Amino acid sequence: MTEKRELRVKPIVNGTVIDHISGGQALNVLKILGISSRSKYVVSVLMNVPSGEMKGKDVVKIENRELDPEELDSIALIAPKATINIIRNYEVVGKHRVVLPKEVSGIVRCGNPNCISNTNEPVASRFMVEPAGEEVQLRCSYCEFVIDQDIADHLL
Ligand code: CTP
Ligand code: ZN
Repeated sequence: MTEKRELRVKPIVNGTVIDHISGGQALNVLKILGISSRSKYVVSVLMNVPSGEMKGKDVVKIENRELDPEELDSIALIAPKATINIIRNYEVVGKHRVVLPKEVSGIVRCGNPNCISNTNEPVASRFMVEPAGEEVQLRCSYCEFVIDQDIADHLL
């Protein structure tokens, strides 16, 4: 490693670090996690940090909260290389690379205004995640509407 390591934000004592987020997607990751200005957690957000294999990565650190890695796989929709690190007493005690889920529910809004997930019915959005070349596309499980680009723009 010739790259000089800079300490931009200090290590955390306990919590969750989401690393290797595609550059610029940190705020969308927070959105998927349901973390907003109303949350009381201490959260650090780094954007466009120079990083070896990636042009610029984002990092999110959430203190004193251990997120369940399995519940975080929907992050892969917008940040396929993200890693979830669980930190206890300064040590990384768990590292999970996000895996694209086969289905996502309650994350993305269907683009069809007449879809049952967009009516007053208490029906959560649900999409099948399908491969589309190098990328993925989402197909609504109710109405077959396909989202094949800019998934981040369709987050609920
Ligand atoms: N980290 C942190 N606080 C700690 C320990 C680690 O904020 N007490 C952060 C690091 O800054 C890094 C991430 O958690 O962003 C993962 O830490 P580590 O596994 O030590 O880093 P790497 O070996 O570079 O991770 P990878 O192999 O996933 O690239
Ligand atoms: Zn639909």
